[in-house]
Parts: sequence; structure tokens; C-alpha cells
Amino acid sequence: MTNRSQKGLRTFLAIPLPESLKKQIGTIQSDLQERSSGVRWVKPDNLHLTLRFFGETSHEDLEKIKGSMLSVERIQKPFEVEVQGLGAFPSPRRPRVLWLGLTPGAPLVDFFRVCQQALEQAGIPPEQRPLAPHLTIGRLRQHGSDLSALTESYAQRSFGTLPVTQAVLYESRLHQHGAEHLPLQTMKLSGADTPES
Ligand code: 2AM
Repeated sequence: MTNRSQKGLRTFLAIPLPESLKKQIGTIQSDLQERSSGVRWVKPDNLHLTLRFFGETSHEDLEKIKGSMLSVERIQKPFEVEVQGLGAFPSPRRPRVLWLGLTPGAPLVDFFRVCQQALEQAGIPPEQRPLAPHLTIGRLRQHGSDLSALTESYAQRSFGTLPVTQAVLYESRLHQHGAEHLPLQTMKLSGADTPES
């Protein structure tokens, strides 16, 4: 039997989506499903914008992460981004991850940086890879077929607005039927302590 408290939790920090946007994306996934094959679609309830994946996290690190979230919520103001365009990692010709784009990307990258700084001050080593803002909607097995025609046809499409008013530290529990995401702590962005410019 695994002992969760000893092993630590598998955690990540993400921006949750409002129900209306999850619903809209669910409709897009159904459209896309008819035009593709071999994609495991992310359940609308599990859709989120990942800021930082921590993986197995010790109890000690969990406390550091939670503490850093308290400092970020006081300095980060809420903002909005548009969900626009369809893309794939590593490329539409060899797709493994199917995602929706976010524009503008700059406020998300800035928010990521603020989180990174707070985490680093709390003693959590920074993520080495820069944030590539994206919203994963589906995943493919190794040899996914070429989806470039599909991504091109959705390149200019807008799918709604994402209000970034909070970020959540989730525990991800892996089950045979898929992942379950349990909120551990929420930071509500107030920006109350932002110095006036
Ligand atoms: P992504 O879909 O934006 O890539 C929760 O598992 C989230 O953490 C995933 O949705 C994924 O975000 C992100 N993640 C990043 N690296 C991961 C890894 N090595 N294993 C699992 N999830 C990872």
C-alpha cells in the first residue's frame, strides 16, 4: 500500500477555467473529434492552464509553495486573455499534445515570472524551461497522424475569454480511468499591494 504522507503528493499550479469556457471548449472538442482520430480528449472538467508542474512534492515543499502563493496573490492583479487558435506539440505534423493558444501571451509570462520569483524566494528551484502559454485539450499516442490541415483551419478561430482572477495548487491523482485534480490551495489575485505607477 502506498503511503501518501511519506511519498508526498503529485502537484501542479494552474489557472482554472470558468464553467462557460469549459463548456465552449467541450463543443470544440466534439467538432475536432469528428475531424481527427487517436486523440484522448481532456475532460472539460479537467481543463486548466498549467503554470508549473511540480511532480512528487514533499510536505516541506508543499508548505513553501503555499507560502509563496500568499505573497503572489497580494501583488498580482487580475487580467484577461483570449483563447485563440489551435496548435500541437511538438508540431502539427507529429502531434503529441493538442492545444488552444492564448493571446496576448505576455501577461501570462509575466504572471509566471512573478510566481517563479516567489517560489524561488521560498526555496523552490525555478523551472528551467520558459512558459509556453497553452491550454491542452487532447493528447495523442506516439505516432499521431499529421494534423496540420486541421490546425491551419482553426488558426484564426477565437474560442472565448479566460479571466485570470485566481490560480490553484492542485493534487493530481492518477487513476486507471484518468487523472483527478483536487484543489489544495487557491490564490485569489487582488494586486492590493501593487505599488502605484
Ligand atoms: P499541460 O497539459 O499544460 O502540458 C497536470 O498533470 C498538468 O501538469 C498537465 O496538464 C500538464 O500540463 C502539466 N505537466 C507538465 N509536465 C508534466 C509531466 N512531466 N507530467 C505530467 N504533467 C505535466
